[in-house]
Amino acid sequence: MTVSIIREDFSQLYPRMQRYIVEAARGAEVLAAFRTNTYEYSPGVGLTAAGAARSRADDWEAYLAKDAAGFAEYHAPRDHYPVPESPVTDVVVIQGSPRPDGNCGTIAGWVAEAVKARDMSVQVLYLDDLILHPCIGCYRCFNKGICTFEDDMDGIYHALEHASLLVVCSPVYTNTVPAGLKSVMDRCQALHARRTIAGKRPPKQDRSGLFFSVAGRVGDENFAAILPVAKAFFSLAGYQPGATLCFDGMDHVSGVHAVAGARERVAGAVGAALEGLSPSLQQDGEKREQRG
Ligand SMILES: Cc1cc2nc3c(=O)[nH]c(=O)nc-3n(C[C@H](O)[C@H](O)[C@H](O)COP(=O)(O)O)c2cc1C
Repeated sequence: MTVSIIREDFSQLYPRMQRYIVEAARGAEVLAAFRTNTYEYSPGVGLTAAGAARSRADDWEAYLAKDAAGFAEYHAPRDHYPVPESPVTDVVVIQGSPRPDGNCGTIAGWVAEAVKARDMSVQVLYLDDLILHPCIGCYRCFNKGICTFEDDMDGIYHALEHASLLVVCSPVYTNTVPAGLKSVMDRCQALHARRTIAGKRPPKQDRSGLFFSVAGRVGDENFAAILPVAKAFFSLAGYQPGATLCFDGMDHVSGVHAVAGARERVAGAVGAALEGLSPSLQQDGEKREQRG
């Protein structure tokens, strides 16, 4: 059995990023692999990825010299990522308000209605229903393309990797998105890592994202900070940022349902986005089958 260290240079994607893979192998069969990358080690830690890889390789060499059979039994390779039982739909709507029945809930309902009217499938994710850990910036997603946490985000990753249109509905909270939605956005770093570095799946080029927002106060300036946040999120999740609709002054009305033309504007934006996607959806036999 042999232990080797492979170094991969990712500095074209992220400045100075290097990934180290320590492999224990019997011939061509890899028994155990340990991955680490330079971004995992924050400036004050005093450890390095190269040092951690070397130390792991030394440990494994010592273990193998002592008990090779025990090593093989202990290190059953676990190199898959869990595919959760979440549906695959043409459209995913993220309802980002912690209030399930507020204005964003209303808008999410209008979106679902507009999608179903075109005989396409849709799921609305209510973040207040889900258990989602915030991103801790460990950068371990750049090792295998898998987030270190196992929680309801697994279902969101699965849904986002297969949808053709992503719609995010968000209230303005302190000029940006609510904390729960921000957690989802940050956790999508793992999707970016999976696409770019771990190379698990190729990006879909034709997918787009719509952003619908509401604010309590009156004035477009209330959306100045949230719009770039949404745009950055779509790119991270692998979607082309598309149309946005902003409804201000919600504190002054009984709800977005009372804003003249709001429902039609939402339906119109969804319809236009789906029109753009329809040809590619129709060619996608696999997706039609899954919609069944
Ligand atoms: C914590 C918090 C922060 C908010 N911050 C802002 C803000 O910065 N600007 C604004 O115009 N409205 C702000 N609002 C008002 C919400 O955007 C408004 O009530 C919106 O309609 C809530 O959306 P929902 O009904 O979908 O929950 C805030 C509300 C809360 C609860």
